[in-house]
Amino acid sequence: MSVLVCGGAGYIGSHTCVALAAQGHHIVIADNFANSSQRVLLRLQRITGAPLECKHLDLRSKTALARMFATHQFDAVVHFAALKAVGESCARPLEYFDNNISGTINLLQAMQGAGVQRLVFSSSATVYGDPERLPVNEQARLDVTNPYGRTKLVMEQLIGDLCCARPMFRAAVLRYFNPVGAHPSGLIGEDPTGIPNNLMPYICQVAAGRRSQLSIFGDDYPTPDGTGVRDYIHVMDLARAHVDALEYLARANASLTVNLGTGHGISVLELVHAFEAASGRRIPYEIQARRPGDVAQVYADPSLAQRLLGWRTQLDVHAMCRDAWRWQSMNPTGYERAKSEVRARG
Ligand code: NAD
Ligand code: WQD
Repeated sequence: MSVLVCGGAGYIGSHTCVALAAQGHHIVIADNFANSSQRVLLRLQRITGAPLECKHLDLRSKTALARMFATHQFDAVVHFAALKAVGESCARPLEYFDNNISGTINLLQAMQGAGVQRLVFSSSATVYGDPERLPVNEQARLDVTNPYGRTKLVMEQLIGDLCCARPMFRAAVLRYFNPVGAHPSGLIGEDPTGIPNNLMPYICQVAAGRRSQLSIFGDDYPTPDGTGVRDYIHVMDLARAHVDALEYLARANASLTVNLGTGHGISVLELVHAFEAASGRRIPYEIQARRPGDVAQVYADPSLAQRLLGWRTQLDVHAMCRDAWRWQSMNPTGYERAKSEVRARG
């Protein structure tokens, strides 16, 4: 298949490009590099052993999209391109709605104009808010609590409406739980800008000596050890699900919405201890107040994805920590080091 990967230079997108290329799909990345480095492209070429086509464009530009769709024939689109920081979305809601929703509308219009009928869309467990029952399945009440989450919900609804209006159009809406880890080569991984918001990248930076200690946000939740519980999923397992979703859309005359998680909850303290065991580094931490907006625990019922896609996770928490640490220790300052590599090579 010829696949357009919007946001393919980002964390999950880059790992999915590897999984797609490994299955022989031809990929074209479209990214504005708002939250990623062009250096990832060199790394992807090293992993896949093949040159990679990338369009530097913003989905908010209809002209740039029209130009790309006029010169390429795609069988499907995998759409990762979005802004994703919850706190930032509360401070800059207009920017989030504009980037995430306007960008998606433009993309869907360009797909329609070019007759591209298959979409894989990155959604998030954030659409469940604070679920009433665990594990959370796809029938759970949707309840978003921040502007970022609202953009995801609106886009899910928009895609659903389009599927109703155009029976030939098919979409796989994938609700990710908490993606962590990195490609086993250590060449690509998560490279947050500034102070990490998410737990795993923060732990990695503490282990690498970039931050002195981890703040654990609350130890008084109604969970076994009092710290928050989440469903961490290895990014390579997640990447593989996109390939499976594309194959599903190609063979089944149907759309789907599925959870992508392991089905197991892990607490903050359990993740810290697993990381210490995998890395051999100690992670000093301090218990702080709860982070506003956090819920006690969320983990997936992934059985629908197993049934429809034949997909299940294969990598455990040890692999998640080992691979996150390999990426971090090989790239202590993320893709920044790659810049000097490029300069050194002239
Ligand atoms: P990321 O920021 O690493 O990747 C997103 C990519 O999209 C970046 O390369 C960015 O430059 C690009 N982009 C953003 N807006 C764009 C635009 N207007 N035009 C072109 N490119 C644009 O994020 P990620 O962690 O890889 O997440 C990928 C997707 O998965 C996002 O849609 C995110 O909301 C969703 N998601 C992520 C998580 C997570 O914890 N990482 C969890 C659930 C869902
Ligand atoms: C995990 C646990 C924190 C940092 C977020 C988004 C969600 C989705 C995934 C995109 C919680 C605790 C964290 C720290 C800590 N993204 N923690 N110290 O909040 O489950 O989900 O990312 O769709 O929308 O909300 O992930 O990694 O931020 O937190 O104690 O420095 O770690 O309280 O219990 P979260 P997270």
